[in-house]
Amino acid sequence: MSSVSRGHWNSRFGFILAAAGSAIGLGNIWRFPYTAGEYGGGAFVLLYLIFVFGIGLPVLLAELSVGRFTQKSPVTAFKDLKPGTKWSWLGGLGVLTGFGILSFYAVIAGVTVGYIYLSLTGKFSADVDAAAVFQGFTADGFQMIALSGLFLAMTALIVQKGVGGGIERAAKILMPTFFVFLLFLVGRALTLEGAGAGLEFMFAPDFSKLTAEGVVSALGQALFSLSLGMGAMITYGSYLSENENIPISAVSVAFFDTGIALVGGLLIFPTLFHAGVDPAAGPGLVFVVMASIFDSLPGGSIFGVVFYGLLSIAALTSTISLLEVITSYFIDEKGWARSKATWTVAFACFLLSIPSALSLGASTFFSEFYGGGFLSLMDNIWGNYSLPIGATLLCFFVAWSWGVPKALASIEAGGHRLPAGAVWGFLIRYVCPAAVLLVFGTTIWQQIFS
Ligand code: PFF
Repeated sequence: MSSVSRGHWNSRFGFILAAAGSAIGLGNIWRFPYTAGEYGGGAFVLLYLIFVFGIGLPVLLAELSVGRFTQKSPVTAFKDLKPGTKWSWLGGLGVLTGFGILSFYAVIAGVTVGYIYLSLTGKFSADVDAAAVFQGFTADGFQMIALSGLFLAMTALIVQKGVGGGIERAAKILMPTFFVFLLFLVGRALTLEGAGAGLEFMFAPDFSKLTAEGVVSALGQALFSLSLGMGAMITYGSYLSENENIPISAVSVAFFDTGIALVGGLLIFPTLFHAGVDPAAGPGLVFVVMASIFDSLPGGSIFGVVFYGLLSIAALTSTISLLEVITSYFIDEKGWARSKATWTVAFACFLLSIPSALSLGASTFFSEFYGGGFLSLMDNIWGNYSLPIGATLLCFFVAWSWGVPKALASIEAGGHRLPAGAVWGFLIRYVCPAAVLLVFGTTIWQQIFS
């Protein structure tokens, strides 16, 4: 079923790094700590771990098996498996979701790049009001648009070079750099005075702080963090060869992603407790709070530069996978050349990113759009609605349309047995869709009635 010109990963390790690179992103270092902080630390972390391995991992296996079996990106994959049905629309939803997520993710990613420059030029000394710096920075509309454009262009330069020579090669350079940066920063954070209190907050579960909303956020975070629900892992799976070991690859990706979220916590919480800052400070945490703390430490701005460098790298390996999902749609479905597909999509996405870029302060119209602003609206539609819908429908597809026996045979192709395959079947048929639907229902309920 594979076509001659289709790209492939050069090695299993390369694939694991690329898939882990997609999973490890702003979600781990930016979103995970402040969400955990909001819902009481340890209890949230424990629940998140249960969801990653009980729900996320089975869905990840399902996505990879669809991709590897068909050797196609989502729309074409569903068409091949169930010709003449509406299942290909699920692939279409994934492509749209990727487009929507990339359009706002690139804006935040652009800010991380800008913050490397601000740290480098020593803009955050102890007596600087970091909140004012953030406001001033994001209120400059031209700068915000230019930075998201720059980030999208960097992403396109890599995606344009294809799977082995572009995405995999970049992951092999970026991911080890990311790990070194992270270890360097965690080493600093853990030796700060007051670090112990941060560790206690993260690891000692206080279930009284875990609300129903917290449970929902833990599952939502598990899906977002593993890049599930929009076909990114179907697309990456489609470049796997027939004899690749899917069980081992999927477990490795899940471990990497969770491990990095936890290590991200080891970096953020001790630093916050050292500075006596509330860990529930919200989305501005990494830009406002961390900026001022790092630069008031001895050692100057180097920690800030490394920290924002780390965030940029994490974001880049994720935007690569987002762009690849849309690009591969145009290659597989419309027969476009890779470079034409990459740059056309990146440009269209740049246009859609403009309202988000202007919504962080430059334009009152977009800042107040629909109440919370254009960027939040995008995050909400694509992150909170579209991903859970996509993940639920994927479970239905694999469980009831394609069928668990065929999917399992595809996972185990090449003689790589999935331990507890029957448990996987049970999870994908009943537990995963029920849990994701529950999350989705609760999100809607909250948004309508709160
Ligand atoms: N997993 C990424 C993160 O945690 O930041 C976000 C993401 C990337 C979601 C790619 C979905 C996706 F397809």
